[in-house]
Amino acid sequence: MKSKSFILENFGCQMNVADATELNQLLKADGYVESSDETADVVILNSCAVRGSAEERIYGRLRHYEALKKKKPFTLILMGCVAQKEGEKVLAKSPHVDMVVGTHQKSRLPELLKEHHHSIDDSQQDVSYANPDHSGQKVFSQLGDYEFTPPVPSLRYPFKADVTIIHGCNKYCTYCIVPYTRGIEMSQKSALIIENVKGLVDRGVTEISLLGQNVNSYGQDNGDITFAELLYELNKVDGLRRIRFLTSHPKDFTSELIDVIRDSEKVCKYIHLPLQSASDGVLEKMRREYSYEHYRNIISELRLKIPGIALSTDILVGFPYESEKDYIETLEAMKEIRFDTAYMFKYSIREGTESAGYPDIVDETEKIRRLQLIIATQREITKEQNEKDLGRVEELLLESRSKNNPGELLGKTDSNKPVVVALDETMIGGYVPVRLKALKGNTFQGELLPQAVTG
Ligand code: SAH
Ligand code: SF4
Ligand code: F3S
Repeated sequence: MKSKSFILENFGCQMNVADATELNQLLKADGYVESSDETADVVILNSCAVRGSAEERIYGRLRHYEALKKKKPFTLILMGCVAQKEGEKVLAKSPHVDMVVGTHQKSRLPELLKEHHHSIDDSQQDVSYANPDHSGQKVFSQLGDYEFTPPVPSLRYPFKADVTIIHGCNKYCTYCIVPYTRGIEMSQKSALIIENVKGLVDRGVTEISLLGQNVNSYGQDNGDITFAELLYELNKVDGLRRIRFLTSHPKDFTSELIDVIRDSEKVCKYIHLPLQSASDGVLEKMRREYSYEHYRNIISELRLKIPGIALSTDILVGFPYESEKDYIETLEAMKEIRFDTAYMFKYSIREGTESAGYPDIVDETEKIRRLQLIIATQREITKEQNEKDLGRVEELLLESRSKNNPGELLGKTDSNKPVVVALDETMIGGYVPVRLKALKGNTFQGELLPQAVTG
């Protein structure tokens, strides 16, 4: 029998990337082959619901595939955060979806797919054609015990891997849909994480990214070791070169954690720490559970103990009750802290979250103005921060061929900055020392140093 083919389209955060990579491997182990065009037997959309725009994009992709279904039969599956949030409601909007698979049902997808294909074969008809009465359509969106799927090397960068260590979120920031789409925090057992990381290293992985909505809440739900202790243990894994992690929450970012980051040579000196707003009034309405002063103290301690550490953040503008004065406080904080990079968003109402009921909303044009100004301000800061790095000697992990110049490779420094260097592609996956020589946009030009090249 001919193998069935699949397309897996991915949207959203790094956790969705990890889920998609793991699922891709599970499907291949089941005999499916990945398709490079739209003739696939199975189309899976892994969705994100964090902002209205992300959700609209998913419905746009669903409409695209539904039009395609009128021409040829295939199985259409919606998984991820929109699937979890909307559940049955997806069927009314998208009558041609065959399966809606929530975040906690992800590991069951290969088995559900098998059952689905058997039922088609048994009934000798293709239920994946239009079925306006929703017969044959199935929704699996129960939240229960989250089942971790084993981490695998990245498909594009086989020397890197994402490792989900904690799933879900208990923080309930008043704007955020994630606790509803991912459920409560559940940590993977530390012994299993360490064993899995050793297995990845045996398969050639040298850089791991530990993932969670709140990595520093690790172990609090199951009484396991703390996140700082986990980093300490992973730092001992032979053959592993780099450990990254995201996302951290400022509330639980302890001095103990900062010390472990400083003392563990494999832990990259780059921290992503979302601030969201620098106004204490707004932070309180967001339920972030810290003040700007607390946040600033963490940054000072990080910079004092780890000179040269790179920092990035998330900023959310136009939140209900954000006055011009509150907004200016955030803008000033950006100038004071001087992040290397920032991910900036305008508030999007998410039904079901607490802030969806807040009355004092900021007008859309004003939100756009605030966002544009903060982006322009950060762009300048990023440029100046990068210029300060010129002349520095850094180790690069060579990741891919440069898009602009085929004779060069693109790599990342420990501090996650992109650098191109003249080398051929046989060096991809290796580590080389470079001097940061020039800047083109936000990408550095690196000069290869004559020290030993390892890989
Ligand atoms: N767990 C992480 C990030 C979660 S979502 C944290 O706690 O920071 C990633 C980012 O999306 C958030 O940091 C926030 O800046 C943004 N975001 C979340 N909900 C949003 C909403 N309703 N509108 C706009 N941006 C939002
Ligand atoms: Fe969302 Fe807040 Fe949880 Fe981050 S900490 S995922 S912003 S609820
Ligand atoms: Fe989006 Fe879900 Fe991640 S809402 S940001 S894919 S946790």
